[in-house]
Amino acid sequence: MIRAAITGVTSYVPKKVMTNFDLEKLVDTNDEWIVSRTGIRERHIAAEGEASSDMSVQAVEKLLKETGTKAEDIDAIIVATVTPDMLFPSTAALIQNKIGATKAWGYDLSGACSGFLFALKSGSSLVQTGHKKVIVVGVDTMSSILDYTDRNTCILFGDGAGAVLLEPTEDENYGIIDELLFVDGSGADALNMKAGGSRKPATHETVDAREHFIYQDGRSVFKRASMDMAQVSADILEKNGFTAEDVGIFIPHQANKRIIDVAARKAGFKDEQVLLNIDKYGNTTAATLPLGLDEVVREKRIKDGDLVLFAAFGAGYTWGSILLRYGPGKKG
Ligand code: COA
Repeated sequence: MIRAAITGVTSYVPKKVMTNFDLEKLVDTNDEWIVSRTGIRERHIAAEGEASSDMSVQAVEKLLKETGTKAEDIDAIIVATVTPDMLFPSTAALIQNKIGATKAWGYDLSGACSGFLFALKSGSSLVQTGHKKVIVVGVDTMSSILDYTDRNTCILFGDGAGAVLLEPTEDENYGIIDELLFVDGSGADALNMKAGGSRKPATHETVDAREHFIYQDGRSVFKRASMDMAQVSADILEKNGFTAEDVGIFIPHQANKRIIDVAARKAGFKDEQVLLNIDKYGNTTAATLPLGLDEVVREKRIKDGDLVLFAAFGAGYTWGSILLRYGPGKKG
């Protein structure tokens, strides 16, 4: 059976850093509250005019260079984002043009904080049906939809992009082993952006009502995220006959350190098995998982053949997990 293997990973965050102390000057909050309730100390914020396709191109060009891949050999580009440059055309199309991937097709998908998992599954399916080189991007410019007068949401998010290259491997021990992916649209009222779509097109009234920003019922999301991310992480291991001890690194979505702690504890992981970088980046939505993978690869916290477990939860609700064995394996 042909499996999709991750054969390269890169990421990009904008230069500008916004600390909790910077936020103290904007809203009624403080560093102690933010660190104790979320684990976040700072986040990166896009420069004026820097959009999701710009950040993605930074990550993808590095990916092409590091993997020795020619842009014209890319078959498809899939972009997970809730903050595309524009509603259309897709961010994937803009990236395709900017990097000169003349042969590639592609599309965006909206899975919020689980978007990278959904895109990875889509990319993996393309590889299993004949595509040889697929780029999967997770990117979000959350600062473009944050209300910097709302302390409930503006402290949580940051901007960033990550990209992986998927290629076929016939080595049955390597690549993406399994996924558990879910949607429960009854959660739509708890986390959303109310205006700017077909339900409420932009008007002066929607702008005045601050409806082009993120709305979140933090407590409801917190409860569901803690429960579902823990459950899905344990379930995928059990389904595939593994235990937490078999996993090299657990890369959970970085929304809140307390949610990660619950998920890691319930699934049975030791601290050293868990990627935690929320202190530096905040919640970058679709970018947290590739940012995390890039970090553990560069810091040599994983080696060829290690089991990697991704898990995420986000707006929709959406949630899921993907289990893979890291490294190229034998190429098909
Ligand atoms: N600074 C200081 N106080 C704040 C604050 C801030 N930035 N934000 C909220 N508060 C206040 C609240 O107003 C509330 O005050 P009150 O009791 O007087 O009403 C108090 O702190 C507690 O608020 P609560 O919402 O219960 O805090 P919490 O412990 O649930 O933490 C979140 C809030 C948002 C950090 C937390 O609910 C969370 O992380 N939710 C999930 C976020 C998430 O995962 N989102 C993305 C989906 S992937």
